[in-house]
Amino acid sequence: RDGPVVDRRGRPMRDLRISVMDRCNFRCPYCMPEATYHEGFRFLAPRERLDFDEIVRVARAAAALGVTKLRLTGGEPLLRPGLPDLVARLVRVPGIEDVALTTNGVLLARSVAALHAAGLHRATVSLDSLDAAVFARMSGGRAELETVLEGIAAAREIGFPGGVKINAVIQRGVNDDGILELAGRFRDTGIVVRFIEYMDVGTRNGWERGDVVPSREVLARIDARWPLIALSPNYRGEVARRYRYVDAGGEIGFVSSVSAPFCGDCSRARLSSDGRLYTCLFATEGTDLRAILRDGGDDTKLREALSGIWRGRQDRYSEERAMPRGCSAVEGRARSAEKIEMHYIGG
Ligand code: GTP
Ligand code: 5AD
Ligand code: SF4
Ligand code: SF4
Repeated sequence: RDGPVVDRRGRPMRDLRISVMDRCNFRCPYCMPEATYHEGFRFLAPRERLDFDEIVRVARAAAALGVTKLRLTGGEPLLRPGLPDLVARLVRVPGIEDVALTTNGVLLARSVAALHAAGLHRATVSLDSLDAAVFARMSGGRAELETVLEGIAAAREIGFPGGVKINAVIQRGVNDDGILELAGRFRDTGIVVRFIEYMDVGTRNGWERGDVVPSREVLARIDARWPLIALSPNYRGEVARRYRYVDAGGEIGFVSSVSAPFCGDCSRARLSSDGRLYTCLFATEGTDLRAILRDGGDDTKLREALSGIWRGRQDRYSEERAMPRGCSAVEGRARSAEKIEMHYIGG
C-alpha cells in the first residue's frame, strides 16, 4: 500500500463510485430526458466500457491509496451482464470494507439472490414517488411502480448486512406533495429514505433554482407529522444529514447539496464506464485511466496516475454554486455548460 493520499484541500480519497453501465432502462427527465436519449443516442459500445478485470485493477489501486468504500452505479448497473461476478471480486479487494449498489430497482427482485450471495453489503433504490402517475412521469414511463416496490421488498427480505435505502429526488410542483406518503410508507420498515435536493447536474435537465425544495422545508413537513431528532453523522463527510423519528419509527436522511453544500469533506472519486476518473460530480473533464490499462501500464503506473489526479484536486462545485454571481472564485468553471451527465458518472 502507498498509504492515504490527500488533495489540495486536505481531503482524503475514501470513496470510489464506479459507473458500470452508461445506459439506463429509465428516462428520468432530470437525468436522461427522452428528447436527448432517444433511439439515435450513441451510448458506449461494450468494448469501450471497462471490463471486470480493468475495474478490479482500478479498485485495487484506489484501495491502496486509502479508498475503503465502493459504490456501483450507472446509468443502471443491473443492465451490466454478470454484475454479481464483479461484486464478488470487489468485496475481496484488500482494504475495501463496504460495497454498495445504487439502482432504479426494476431488475432488483430477480438479481437480489445473486447479489447477496456475491457479498454485496447494501443497496440503495431510487424511488421518487408512490403515486403511479407521478412515478411514471419522473421515471420516463418505461416501468411499473409495482416492480420497483417488489425489488425493494426483495432486497429487504434477503437482508443485506448494511440494509436498504431509498433515494427520493424532490422537485417542486412535481412530487413534493408525496413527501409524507414516502416517509410514512417506509417508517417502521428499517428502510432509510433519503430526500435529495434536485441538483443542476449535467446540462440537459433545464434545472432552475425554483425547482429545488430545500431540505429544511421537507424536514419541517415531516417533523410536523412525525417529530424528528437529529443524529450525529456516521462518518466524517457523510453526504446525508441523518434524523430519527422520536417515536422509534426509524431513520431518514436529507441530501442538501444545494442549500447546504458538503464539499469540505468530500472524499468521493468517480469512475465512468469508459474508464475516466472524475474528481467531482460537476466536473467538466476526467482523466483517461483506460488508456493506461490498455496500453500495458502496470499497477504502479495506475496507482501513480490515480494519486497524481487526487493530489491535484481542488473541486468544490456545490460550495461555489452557493457563492454570489460574479464572485471571482467561481469565474468560468462552476457554471460551465460542459458538465458531465449524471447517467455517465452515476450519482
Ligand atoms: P451512503 O454511503 O449510504 O451514505 O450513501 P452515499 O453517501 O454514497 O450517497 P448516495 O450514493 O446514496 O447518494 C445520494 C445522493 O446524494 C446521490 O443521488 C447524489 O444525488 C447525491 N450525492 C452523492 N454524492 C455527492 C457528491 O459528492 N456531491 C453532490 N453534490 N451530491 C452527491
Ligand atoms: N439531482 C439530484 N439527484 C439526482 N439523481 C439523478 N439526477 C439527479 C439530480 N439532477 C439521483 C437519482 C439517484 C441517484 C443516483 O442520483 O435519483 O437516486
Ligand atoms: Fe433515472 Fe437513475 Fe436512470 Fe438517471 S440513471 S435515468 S436517475 S434511473
Ligand atoms: Fe464533492 Fe463536487 Fe459534490 Fe462538492 S460538488 S461534494 S466536491 S462531488
